[in-house]
Amino acid sequence: MVDREVWEGILPDERATEALGFWLGERVAPGEVILLYGDLGAGKTTLARGIARGLGFSDRVTSPTFTLIHEYFGRLPMFHFDLYRLSDPDEVWEIGWPDYLRGSGVVVVEWPERLGDLMPHEALNVYLNLVTGGDQGRWVRVVGQGERPAVMVKELQTACTSLAWIVPQK
Ligand SMILES: Nc1ncnc2c1ncn2[C@@H]1O[C@H](COP(=O)(O)OP(=O)(O)OP(=O)(O)O)[C@@H](O)[C@H]1O
Ligand SMILES: [Mg+2]
Repeated sequence: MVDREVWEGILPDERATEALGFWLGERVAPGEVILLYGDLGAGKTTLARGIARGLGFSDRVTSPTFTLIHEYFGRLPMFHFDLYRLSDPDEVWEIGWPDYLRGSGVVVVEWPERLGDLMPHEALNVYLNLVTGGDQGRWVRVVGQGERPAVMVKELQTACTSLAWIVPQK
């Protein structure tokens, strides 16, 4: 059983970040967790917006900066957490973190580092970084940890050649 897979690529512009999210949103299953890592402005919310769109949600998607969580309802519910301002993981526990994980929806988290001990073991981890030396574009690394996320990354490895706007790295 393969339970860890990695894919890397370049996202040349905002549209590419959203397209990767859309691809994930079309495939993600209930109870799955997508963790979005990256500095301020790396493109986490852009990716989350793509996921919501891929799930079929068509309204506005913004960072839930002042509320900890936004919920969007597409093919499945999406629970979008932004933990940038979180000072204690207990706050996430108190609003029902285990229920979100076991629920019927998809959990998407910006700033997952803040989760501490609440960090799920099985997740699709997406790392976004500014491309150094260039003024545009993002470098992305997707690590599927656990059986189902690893399968998703395997599919991404195959599909990325047909996602013209995502250039796979050699
Ligand atoms: N691949 C890309 N290339 C260039 N710019 C991008 C790319 N993806 C997203 N951006 C741009 O980066 C900016 C920041 O994006 P976004 O708000 O998604 O970042 P974030 O990681 O959520 O930031 P924060 O930590 O503040 O929540 C936006 O202007 C967005 O259009
Ligand atoms: Mg954001």
